[in-house]
Amino acid sequence: HQTAVIVVAAGSGTRLGYGIPKALVPLAGRSLLEHALDRIQLAGCAAQVIAVLPEDEAELAAIAANHPLRPHWVSGGATRNDSVRAGLAALEPGTERVLIHDAARALTPPEVFRQVVSSLLAGAQAVIPVVPVVDTIKQVATDPGRQPHVTGTPARDLLRAVQTPQGFHAPTLLAAHQQATDWDRAKAEAITDDAMLMEILGERVDTVPGAAAALKITTKPDLVLAESMLPAHPP
Ligand code: C5P
Repeated sequence: HQTAVIVVAAGSGTRLGYGIPKALVPLAGRSLLEHALDRIQLAGCAAQVIAVLPEDEAELAAIAANHPLRPHWVSGGATRNDSVRAGLAALEPGTERVLIHDAARALTPPEVFRQVVSSLLAGAQAVIPVVPVVDTIKQVATDPGRQPHVTGTPARDLLRAVQTPQGFHAPTLLAAHQQATDWDRAKAEAITDDAMLMEILGERVDTVPGAAAALKITTKPDLVLAESMLPAHPP
């Protein structure tokens, strides 16, 4: 089995304020989960697709069951990392490459998936899509009872914002997660993506160009922006 894609869609979506799981939120008449699955299908690079869904969420389970990709689905956990682990546990034995994708990046163009897979095929252990940052970024220190103050400004031309799908040599990612199971809660919670886990373990992480359409839909304005991108970015 060559490449598997794990779509994490078990988030609550409280910041969108719809009162339904984020992956169910409609965009031009289709749920975010369907949009994400549509683009994975168009990319044509996945032998196995695993959707990680909120527990007891019949509507999302039905969407997964009826999608032409026929993804396998499993229940997620309390944090994104827990949901990734639930997806990894469902990988078929012998999977060589695995892509971890946020359902919230529902409009990620198929080309981004293909570039991540190409990079893995060319020998990368880990590869992430990135875009330049437009804001100047400051590092701050937080002292109790005081306003945070600035401690530094990293050179903006060396900074990148990270998107998904993040691609990995599957045995390496599985080994990294295995090692992290022994970490204490604070160290485990500081891990915000899978690439960071690879970095901590000393693995090289490569980059490919991301896309504006791969924005993470988190708030209502993001949904409006994503909707405006639909006609301009047909999958
Ligand atoms: O919450 P955040 O925007 O960081 O979520 C990123 C992605 O991780 C979303 O697609 C969300 O559904 C997923 N997630 C998950 N399980 C969680 C939290 C987030 O699958 N417990």
